[in-house]
Amino acid sequence: MIVKKVELHNFRNYENLELSFDSSRNVFIGENAQGKTNLIEGIYLCAFARSFRTQNSANMVMLDRPRASVTVDLVSEDMDKSISVILDRTGKKMIKKDGKVIRKTAELLNNLVVMVFSPEDLRIIKDSPEKRRNFINKELSQIRPRYYECLRLYNEALRQKNSMLKDNLKNSKIDENMLDIYDLQLAKYGTEIVKYRRNFIRILSERAAEIQKSISGGREDLEIRYLCSLSEENQYDALVAARDRDLYSGHSSLGPQRDDMEFLINGKDAKKYGSQGQHRTIALALKLSEIGIARDVIGENPVLLLDDVLSELDEERQTFLFQEIEDVQLFITTTDVNNRILKKMPKGNVYSVKSGTVFKNTLK
Ligand SMILES: Nc1ncnc2c1ncn2[C@@H]1O[C@H](COP(=O)(O)OP(=O)(O)OP(=O)(O)O)[C@@H](O)[C@H]1O
Ligand SMILES: [Mg+2]
Repeated sequence: MIVKKVELHNFRNYENLELSFDSSRNVFIGENAQGKTNLIEGIYLCAFARSFRTQNSANMVMLDRPRASVTVDLVSEDMDKSISVILDRTGKKMIKKDGKVIRKTAELLNNLVVMVFSPEDLRIIKDSPEKRRNFINKELSQIRPRYYECLRLYNEALRQKNSMLKDNLKNSKIDENMLDIYDLQLAKYGTEIVKYRRNFIRILSERAAEIQKSISGGREDLEIRYLCSLSEENQYDALVAARDRDLYSGHSSLGPQRDDMEFLINGKDAKKYGSQGQHRTIALALKLSEIGIARDVIGENPVLLLDDVLSELDEERQTFLFQEIEDVQLFITTTDVNNRILKKMPKGNVYSVKSGTVFKNTLK
């Protein structure tokens, strides 16, 4: 899949920008705070209908402007598609595909499949379980819109159940029937979520192990384990059995909201015993596996957004990355260009970004 063009209006620091891209590689160079990440965020917005760095959509609207819009023209399976997202100050969103309004995010999700790789991803091993769940959720939501739907419905039921449990702590008032309805819903969607996650992590582990082995010159065996809070068997019974404890503590103690992943290198927990270099290799292996899994499921390459991450990888890992993603369209942001790195990448365009304006360079 190839992003051909983007149009930004009153989006972050871009008043009006129309830009065409190379189908292989696009490098954006500029000093800090010029709009490099904003550009990538705009493309990402048309994939997910949300940002990768803010929960509040209104932040993306240019200051003092009522609304922002982003349009991405892309080619997928030899078909031209156009996705637009219009945001307003109140946080309201409108999504359009080929000019027609899409009401559900789930219907947008696998039209434009993008993966972001940023320095934050390099910390995934040491970060909180929530970050690791986000990694799983983002990938699965894009390639399996049903997963996104299950997650949305699960989270909605969980929010309601938790608020009821909290009220009960204050007022000792519980509607047993409602609690049962929530548990039935949680078990229904939770079972599907766990199945998707188990399958995903199994394939992720296989793929990432191969990559880890290759980067480490055969020295490192990586295994990724799914730490599942509540397995897919009889979730409802387990939720009922945990009710007394949940009523006492005021929150739901079991379920996919407690899941995590564990990384083992040569049988040892990488979080506790791994070196920083090993953590980086795992992070890179995860990203590359993610791309491979998406390609297998959707039948074409996703688009890769590398936000400021190249300078965090040593030459060996950079070379490996470029070898592995030969046919993937790349968007790369960086504050400085190193000709040696540039030569290693696939050929393409270089752009300069300055205070919300972008110029294509003659440099290739
Ligand atoms: N809603 C907004 N309206 C206007 N300007 C904004 C808005 N949000 C962010 N900006 C501006 O965008 C700039 C930051 O852009 P961006 O995050 O893309 O920088 P960058 O080029 O990626 O920098 P770095 O190299 O530090 O990552 C800042 O100047 C900021 O003031
Ligand atoms: Mg940036």
